[in-house]
Amino acid sequence: MAIIYPTTNLKQRDNKLDIERGEGIYVYDSNGKQYLEGLAGLWCTSLGYGNKELVDTTAEQMSKLAYTHMFGGKTHRAGVELAEQLAEMVPMHNAKVFFGNSGSDANDTHVKLLRYYFNAIGKPEKRKIIARERSYHGVTVASASLTGLQPNHTHFDLPFEALGVLRTDAPHYLRGHLPGESEAQFVERITNNLEQMILAEGPDTIAAFIAEPVTGASGVIVPPEGYYERVQAILAKYDILFWADEVITGFGRTGQPFGCQTMGIESPKLMTLAKQLSSGYIPISASVISGDIYDALVEPSAEVGVFGHGYTYSGHPVAAAVALKTLEIYKRDNIFAHAAEAGEYMQRKLHALADHPLVGEVRGKGMIAAVEMVANKATKDAFPGGVVGAFAQQACEQHGLIVRAVAGSSIAFCPPLIATTAQIDEMVEKFSKALDDTLAWVVKEGLIKA
Ligand SMILES: Cc1ncc(COP(=O)(O)O)c(C=O)c1O
Repeated sequence: MAIIYPTTNLKQRDNKLDIERGEGIYVYDSNGKQYLEGLAGLWCTSLGYGNKELVDTTAEQMSKLAYTHMFGGKTHRAGVELAEQLAEMVPMHNAKVFFGNSGSDANDTHVKLLRYYFNAIGKPEKRKIIARERSYHGVTVASASLTGLQPNHTHFDLPFEALGVLRTDAPHYLRGHLPGESEAQFVERITNNLEQMILAEGPDTIAAFIAEPVTGASGVIVPPEGYYERVQAILAKYDILFWADEVITGFGRTGQPFGCQTMGIESPKLMTLAKQLSSGYIPISASVISGDIYDALVEPSAEVGVFGHGYTYSGHPVAAAVALKTLEIYKRDNIFAHAAEAGEYMQRKLHALADHPLVGEVRGKGMIAAVEMVANKATKDAFPGGVVGAFAQQACEQHGLIVRAVAGSSIAFCPPLIATTAQIDEMVEKFSKALDDTLAWVVKEGLIKA
């Protein structure tokens, strides 16, 4: 087989789940078995599968004009219109939008824009970026360096130092608090650590702080009350820009249009969007910056003769048309309001599993959640490695549910935003069965401590 699988143990070449088609929130494997897609693919298929309007839009745009670009002197309506609509939607001042093809490349674009900006305003030394432990920002050279997960680093010799990546605490109380520490004390301590690091490094050397408002791949971490308030106060004090990576949390996922709004993050200066921007139907991402940053880029680009950054597929007309249609459907069908309601329901249903002997924590916001399984319910000791998460994920698949094991023994949920409450019931029911199977297995294997 010639395929190199992405984000996969390369030794495990067999037993792949071969997905063949999808409809609504369900997908079907090559044997015809139905699965409820509890992770919306990779946190992206917000409108589910087989959406006729998106399919027709793709075909129409491809027939009319399959490709054009926006380099030096060219433009097209769909790209310009999409940027206008996004600028209207995001909680940012006078936003400007640069298009890419993935969350990773959009984050790389931001790294470059930050350098360009601080060079332009005469502060070339302001270039370090603070990223958190247990964050996920992608896998290109720069975005993998911002990512705070070890498997994305090991063997890749990433240029952390050259990029000036600084690392600060993950805001996960369960796994980060000291014995006897309250949530408020935890917030106080980790934000003090942040401030001390800024002072030690020199505030004038730090450009930005990147954060997913609620994390995804690293375990769906929802920071405690007060965390973002304190972080924003510190960043404002030292003139460090807040960069919101909304690749998962953008477009209604957390109960508000953007995760920043759910989590009380006011007016970020940079925002990264992808995934649900096109409901995952076609690759497109957006690096969004506030107007004052953009204004500073204009003159230097004129001096050089060109703003020397752009992808062949930046603002691809088919992707832009599909994204425009996606935004139209979000608005017309009140998808965000539906997701907010269904999300509350999903959180309630998952929290009802908190008494299960395997469950140590249920966390989430809106239509994104994780259930963390623990080896000891009283002490919340974690299971070693990822075997229990992997087993539970398999057990879910046996019951016709696709989910994703993250951060070792957490099972992540992120169903399409169109899921009904009845479908959420079905999802949780299937998961409960898989939890029971997993419990029986960990008992048999002697992995659980009573
Ligand atoms: C928060 C966040 N940022 C960036 C990325 C990278 O996006 P992509 O896989 O499209 O490169 C992801 C992907 O899951 C993500 O969750």
